[in-house]
Amino acid sequence: MSEQRNSVSVIGLGPMGQAMVRALLKAGVEVTVWNRSTAKVEAMVALGAKAAATVAEALDANEVSVVSLTHYAAMYDVLGQAVDHLPGKVIANLSSDSPEHARKGAEWVRSHGAQFISGGVMSAGDNIEHPASYIFYSGPREVFDAHADLLRPLSPQEYLGADDGLAQVFYQGLLTTFHPWLLAFDQATAMISKAGHSVAQFVPYAIRSSEAYPYFMQEFSVANENGGWAEVASLKMMDAGAQHIIEASEEVGVDATLSHAAQAFWRKAVAASEEAGRAVSTYELMRDAK
Ligand SMILES: NC(=O)c1ccc[n+]([C@@H]2O[C@H](COP(=O)([O-])OP(=O)(O)OC[C@H]3O[C@@H](n4cnc5c(N)ncnc54)[C@H](OP(=O)(O)O)[C@@H]3O)[C@@H](O)[C@H]2O)c1
Repeated sequence: MSEQRNSVSVIGLGPMGQAMVRALLKAGVEVTVWNRSTAKVEAMVALGAKAAATVAEALDANEVSVVSLTHYAAMYDVLGQAVDHLPGKVIANLSSDSPEHARKGAEWVRSHGAQFISGGVMSAGDNIEHPASYIFYSGPREVFDAHADLLRPLSPQEYLGADDGLAQVFYQGLLTTFHPWLLAFDQATAMISKAGHSVAQFVPYAIRSSEAYPYFMQEFSVANENGGWAEVASLKMMDAGAQHIIEASEEVGVDATLSHAAQAFWRKAVAASEEAGRAVSTYELMRDAK
């Protein structure tokens, strides 16, 4: 096996790419950077990174290039500028996208003679040094193993399996729960505030109640593996509960779109249950959507 240099290229310097460069430099890794707009390159050079003038130069500089772009479409725009510099290289694409886009991207990179692994960065925003931050990886185990040490400064690693789309399956699964939570928190705190009360007084209770979420996740994952949780009386109770939330928000002029969407699901499950003559869960409705 050839000796491995403690050096890497980072292609894409959005907030995430920049956080990665900082973490790598801090760990003593030599970093070469490329970005479409050059002001971001200069900021990283000021910290100790080397600038590549072209994508080809960034690929030539190291065996491994970390790609951190908005989506996989940007990878084609960027690596497409230097496909003849891909043979023999390793591309670790840590951009977010759908699992299918990640699989197609893996195929495309390999068709140009490079190895590929994909990653999903589960970070607290762009704070990859936060203790809760980690990165899902998927793709060929041997490619991950060969470069895990080099990539370790980016965050703790969770290798999931050989399917190139798997890191994105888990990453998007977690973001599926995060987005509505974030919006629901906006709605709840707007409602508290517009009702003339203190958000600071409310937050400790929000944290305390969230401590029951692991229990719900365990209970509902078991229920969902068995078709989902459903009792018609409970579905009707959730419909009524959603109505109370909507009124609490709308009474003080807060947008309750999210709660209307939740209520629509409960009502759909009630209607489906009545039609089927058995309890139909919201999980079942979502799972079997065409
Ligand atoms: N930021 C976070 O908190 C966070 C957390 C977890 C995961 N992620 C994921 O990590 C990835 C990177 O995040 P980010 O916040 O750095 O994303 P971002 O702000 O969208 O930055 C993306 C980078 O992509 C480049 N880019 C986009 N389209 C391009 C194109 N067609 N050709 C060339 N370059 C292109 C931008 O170049 P320019 O500078 O020239 O515009 C920039 O360097 C995303 O997939 C994101 O979902 C981000």
